[in-house]
Amino acid sequence: MRNRASSISFTLLLLFSSPIVMSTALASPQSSSANDLIDQTCNNTPFFDLCSRILHSNPVPPSNPNDMALIMIKNIEENATDTLNYIQELIKRTSDHQLERQLSLCAEDYIPIVKYDLPQAVDALNRRNFPFASYSINYAGKEVDDCNKKFSGSQSPVADRNEIMRRLVGVTVAIIKLLHVM
Ligand SMILES: *[C@@H]1O[C@H](CO)[C@@H](O)[C@H](O)[C@H]1NC(C)=O
Repeated sequence: MRNRASSISFTLLLLFSSPIVMSTALASPQSSSANDLIDQTCNNTPFFDLCSRILHSNPVPPSNPNDMALIMIKNIEENATDTLNYIQELIKRTSDHQLERQLSLCAEDYIPIVKYDLPQAVDALNRRNFPFASYSINYAGKEVDDCNKKFSGSQSPVADRNEIMRRLVGVTVAIIKLLHVM
């Protein structure tokens, strides 16, 4: 597994250091070579379709993995913010005190994701501190899991949203891992 991942990373490395690929990518970020890079990168993540859909739907297709990681983080932030609003709506509507308490505890797990983990990850990427960027994103994933655990015994009303978050985290960490070896 490790060997396979590093040989793929090595292929990517060759690709990025090839002057021809580089100059085409730089000359026209919308070119098919930029799209190929997106799909090649997404191929190294656990959720290719999710990764490819998000990165291709960005107004300017990213031409390097660093920008891809930043776009993924922006997507996580939008998702987490939306889920936080959703949780607050559920809290307003429920008359079940236990559910209200569980939802509040879950929101407490989500708030630091938006407030600290994601900005920290962006900052770390800008400083090329990839281990800390990975750590921050993984920590966000841990907080999503913590939220789910607040509903033990009953069905989590945010289980589907948490699952999407977990996948977004998986894709982002995989992309940062590629940056690590470049
Ligand atoms: C959250 O992510 C999912 C999967 O990419 C997407 O379908 C959904 O629209 C996103 N929600 C927000 C608010 O960004």
